[in-house]
Amino acid sequence: MIKIGFLGMGIVGSAAVDILNNNKDIISQRVGKQCIVKTICVKDISKKRTVDLKTATLTTNPDDVINDPEIDIVIEVIGGEFPKKWLLQALKNGKHVVTANKELVSKAKQELIDATHEKQTFLMFEAAVGGGIPVIQSLSTALGANSMQSIFGILNGTTNFILTKIDEEGKDFAPVLKEAQDLGFAEANPHMDVSGLDAAYKLDILAAIAFQKNVGLEHIFYEGIENIQLKDINNARDLGYKIKLLGIGKKVEKGFVFKVHPCLIPKAHPIASVANEFNAVFVQGDAVGDSMLYGKGAGGFPTASAIVGDVIKIVQSKFCNTRKLESYTPVSIDDTDSKFYLRLSCNDTYGVIEKIAKVFSDNKISLEKFFQKDVKEEIAELVFLTHSSLERNMKNAVNKLKSIDDVLNVETVLRVELDD
Ligand code: HSE
Repeated sequence: MIKIGFLGMGIVGSAAVDILNNNKDIISQRVGKQCIVKTICVKDISKKRTVDLKTATLTTNPDDVINDPEIDIVIEVIGGEFPKKWLLQALKNGKHVVTANKELVSKAKQELIDATHEKQTFLMFEAAVGGGIPVIQSLSTALGANSMQSIFGILNGTTNFILTKIDEEGKDFAPVLKEAQDLGFAEANPHMDVSGLDAAYKLDILAAIAFQKNVGLEHIFYEGIENIQLKDINNARDLGYKIKLLGIGKKVEKGFVFKVHPCLIPKAHPIASVANEFNAVFVQGDAVGDSMLYGKGAGGFPTASAIVGDVIKIVQSKFCNTRKLESYTPVSIDDTDSKFYLRLSCNDTYGVIEKIAKVFSDNKISLEKFFQKDVKEEIAELVFLTHSSLERNMKNAVNKLKSIDDVLNVETVLRVELDD
């Protein structure tokens, strides 16, 4: 059994405990061990909590977590610089550390990494950059073979949410920021988001992972979105661009430059379509070429997903090698639903639509849209988009459609995905 201690229990910590509770079977299958929360250090024990803490003990003394010999993994979700001494102590005590604290990782990365060497412990900080996007793991291992040429990241969910709402809904800055705060995306002090500072910490961490450089905030130029107005967003749109706050790291003639600022991006670029609280990291590697990671960059559960992912990584690497895959009970595609697109060629004569409609109706297929395309030499093309329908029914319907005299052919049948 793996025992976990928490330092802090706010939105992200509570979501992590929820995931550890709700997905405990999946997690233990993945790692071959049970992971339980033993102790949680909080500021106020009497505070009412919505999450089920099961048998975990609450304490106000961080020593109960970092000095408890039974605790294997310490998760820090307090934020700011002051937990540093606790994390260093935990690493010194041979505990693995998972943190979502971008400010601390940015400012003390070398010191924290050095502290892992003595006891060969893990320091994991996936949740510190890009919320739930596995950008740290991806850049360090799966893409680790590359010499990175550049990184362009939408690294702050709050500001991306604000820019999207101003753009799409013509809303003002202040109410949109309030909305982002209410949704739990923004920092305790939202100035950190809006000024570009949050993204700068994250870029500093990415610089360490992608370029092996200890850059430091003092060498990162950053500028926020405070001065962006609806007019600018509209003008950019007219020019064929979107305005996004980007964290950029790239090779230039004299070395590497790191900067965060709002910029115009061509609308057709994949990063321009990243909206709301979503983040994305677009990298250019010498071997892989262009690659983009995308996902929710803020909010309790996405961030907690990264935290628990780090726990899984630690347990898999350090504590177990007994993973067992479940046997699979097949599900036939015939029993699945989707919308369908169909293109039929038929004689341009009376009564055809009625016969086709009857086939759809007999097979419980409802139509969302249909139209008749070009008629050439008395042959019409009919295009149908159905509502969600059972595959088995569609197969049956297609066979029936083919047997209608005036239907010359069912030319194309395609399934529609990702359109809920
Ligand atoms: N306030 C941060 C954001 C949360 O909006 O991206 C995740 O670091």
